[in-house]
Order: sequence, then C-alpha cells, then structure tokens
Amino acid sequence: MKRVAIIEGEDAAPEAMKPTLALLEGLGLPIEFHTPPVGRAGVEAFGDPFPDEARQSIDDSDATLFGATSGLSVRAILYLRWGKNTFANVRPARWQPGYRSPLAKPEGIDLVIVRENLEDLYLGIEGEIEELETLALRSRTSGRPVADYAPGCFALKVISEAGSERVIRFAFELARKRKTSGRPGRVTCSSKYNMLPRSDGRFREIALSVAKDYSDIELQTIIVDDLAQRLVTKPHDLDVVVLPNLYGDILSDLAAGVIGGLGVAPSGCYGEDYAYFESAHGSAPDIAGLGIINPTATILSAAMMLEYLGFEDAATRLDHAVTQVYAEGKAEGEHLTPDQGGSATTVEFCDAIARALEKE
Ligand code: IPM
Ligand code: MG
Repeated sequence: MKRVAIIEGEDAAPEAMKPTLALLEGLGLPIEFHTPPVGRAGVEAFGDPFPDEARQSIDDSDATLFGATSGLSVRAILYLRWGKNTFANVRPARWQPGYRSPLAKPEGIDLVIVRENLEDLYLGIEGEIEELETLALRSRTSGRPVADYAPGCFALKVISEAGSERVIRFAFELARKRKTSGRPGRVTCSSKYNMLPRSDGRFREIALSVAKDYSDIELQTIIVDDLAQRLVTKPHDLDVVVLPNLYGDILSDLAAGVIGGLGVAPSGCYGEDYAYFESAHGSAPDIAGLGIINPTATILSAAMMLEYLGFEDAATRLDHAVTQVYAEGKAEGEHLTPDQGGSATTVEFCDAIARALEKE
C-alpha cells in the first residue's frame, strides 16, 4: 500500500485537482490518498496555513501531488522542495496531436527540461549593497568597486559542485533511460558560461566531467540565450536539457508554450528519497470558479507520480488516455478546454479521460 498526500492549492488549481483525484481513485490502485491541512484548510483547523500536522502528513506519504499556489500554500512548496531535498525538477515538453502549439510543425517535439531545483538565485540571499562593502569586491566588467553601486541591492547566485553534479547525473541517467525507447541519448547543458565563467562556467565544467562516465550519451553545451532560440526554432533536436534553477524556471515555461501552453505541462521534483508532482503552471486566478482550467498538466503530473511509485502500467494507461482524448479532440474539439481551442469544461474533459481509460 502506498500513501499519497494531495494538496489542492489555491484559485483554479483545486478545480483541476478534484477530478484528477477522482480519476486516480478510479484506477483502483493500492494507494491511500490523504489531504494534509495546508492553506485555508490549515488556517481553519489549526490557525496556520502549514501546521506541523501538514508536514507530518507529507513525511508519512510516499509522494505528494500538489495543485498550484498563489500564496497561502507557499510554505508547503518550500517544504516540499528544501525540506524534502527534491533537487531535480523534471519538466517534459512532448507535443501530441491536439495540443495547440504556435509552431507550424510541432510533430516530434519530445524534450525534457531537468532544472536544478534548490540552488542558484533560489537560495533567496539578497541584501543591500552596503552589506558587501567590507568584502572589497570589484566588478569584472566595469572595474568599479561594488560600493559604487550603493544604494541598491544584490542577490547571490550559488552554484555548488555537489548540487550541480547530482542534478547533472540525474539528467544523464534520464537520457540513458529515454534512449532505450528510441530517443537520441543527448544531454544539452546550458548556462551563461561566457559571461559568468566562475559560477555558470563551473556548472558546465561539471557536466563535461560527468559526461566521461556516460560514453553512450552525447553531451552538448550551449549558452542559455542560444538555447532560448533553439527551443523555438529547433526544439526537435533537443532531448534532455539540464539547467541551473532560474534558467530552468524561465525556459520550462517557454518549452510549455512551444508545445501548447502551460495547461499541458506537467512537472515532478525528485530527491533521493522523496518526490512531489505539480503542474508547471500557476494557480490561474483569472479563471478561478469558471470550471474551465485545463487539468492535463495535473493529470500528466499524476501519471509521472504513478510511475515513480512503481505503478508503471497505470501511468501508461493514464498517459494513453490523455493522448487518445487529444487525438479525438483534434477532430471534434468538444472534449478540449478553451485554452486548446475547445469548449469543454474541466469536468467534461475528465469525463472523456475516464471513458478513454475504460477502453484502454
Ligand atoms: C515554478 C514556479 C515557482 C518557481 C514559483 C511559484 C516560486 O514558477 O514552479 O516554476 O519559481 O519555481
Ligand atoms: Mg515557473
């Protein structure tokens, strides 16, 4: 028996999560679903949006499925990332027929962004320039002492060797696994190593060194602005892309846009002994209450979770059901949500998924 924590999140996110949970329950797997008191539920029951009871429930689970947050549940995200050490954020961007891509030829796009999830600017170390003055730092570009920039602020970008190596190894392992199903076995490592030769340069050097352990996998290193244009002009050439945190955050939204939008972009954050799954999109406050949020990202994140928990067959069934509904939706349009050019509600889309599952 596995145990999964379900955290709905805010705004429109619960509207995607509720029918996704119903689909998961319908699969009849040996999974117990729990709803930790996070966000408003935590405030109502314990006067705290992230009480100890919520943390305990996450700890007692094998994985967490998270909706999306606009504030109240944000401490849960911080815990799921930094508290549970989920260092590799995996964001697949795979086009399938029916996804409303802005590209003329999206056929065959199947890439995965592996984003370092815990370091870089996300350490959240910021401060006033004055605090740096005793360090006598000098700008490499302007030659001026850092004190010249006061008053103002700084943010610290941290690229640790251990943190970089583990996520880069994770990317190589993923490329190796994907190669067994016909992908090219290519890792693209990208950062701004020309401009930031120390920090981003170190990230690249670590990739070059890890690559020596993977003679079956090709490593390509490119600067991140070039990657941005390639994601739009030649996304078919990309397989596994490994990036420091902030570039990964930005470019995974770009990759989602390329295949059809955030509504179809799943995500999973993996650590050594825990993982949590969450659509890459936000809580969509603009459509909250309308019942039209696209649940595909949440459903596909749930499929990634099933695979992680060892229910590979069920994960494949769920994945195929989504493929099926989009393939039909392409012809008829009626099962798809408005972001994909249809007129279906979230629940109508999920009903179509449930019917496709029955036929699987
Ligand atoms: C994401 C989101 C988060 C991030 C926000 C909500 C902090 O944009 O998961 O991509 O920047 O990581
Ligand atoms: Mg983001």
